Amino acid sequence: MEIKSAEFIISNTRIDKCPKNNLPEYAFIGRSNVGKSSLINMLTNRPKLAMTSATPGKTLLINHFLINKEWYLVDLPGYGYAKRGKKQQEKIQQIIEQYILQREQLTNLFLLIDCRLEPQRIDLEFIEWLGENGVPFAIIFTKADKLSNKKVLENVNSYLEHLKEQWEELPPHFITSSEKKIGRAEVLNYIESINRQL
Ligand code: GTP
Ligand code: MG
Repeated sequence: MEIKSAEFIISNTRIDKCPKNNLPEYAFIGRSNVGKSSLINMLTNRPKLAMTSATPGKTLLINHFLINKEWYLVDLPGYGYAKRGKKQQEKIQQIIEQYILQREQLTNLFLLIDCRLEPQRIDLEFIEWLGENGVPFAIIFTKADKLSNKKVLENVNSYLEHLKEQWEELPPHFITSSEKKIGRAEVLNYIESINRQL
């Protein structure tokens, strides 16, 4: 799919302030610093569209980016940043949960996992919560440039094996690097294939 236009539309903390039209939305979630905002920039080929930072906790709001005037990419705050105060942590959690559970336009959620790490309890619990709530999602393994191809595949396979212990059917998954632009066509084609079915 060709990205002809990508525009920042609005940031906010409440879904009743999100865009009112009924265009499909693809949102990105995962731990702080996993690479959500960077991935949006890589997919759209616009390095400064979403704000990124080496320090976790950069994205604090729900951010809507209109793509090709037809659908949205949505950048969400990350979860699990321990240095946030408890109050802020709870507020972020509430923003994320409200968006995921109540936003009817949410068509598919991408859950981002750092391909370098062993399965983390916080992500596994999050996946379980998605399952309990019937949220359609796919997994994106990020930062593939940080390991050899062989090691990436080993880690991804072992992650999927771990999920198989709980799940009969695995969600679709993608391997990406925003740094090296790996996985761009695969993720965009996936979005396009869903858009076509709508
Ligand atoms: P929060 O907004 O804090 O939740 O973080 P985020 O998930 O949006 O992460 P962000 O995109 O801001 O990236 C965090 C850090 O990881 C930045 O320093 C990025 O440059 C780096 N990063 C993101 N993706 C990649 C990647 O594919 N490869 C490498 N090497 N670094 C990456
Ligand atoms: Mg971010």
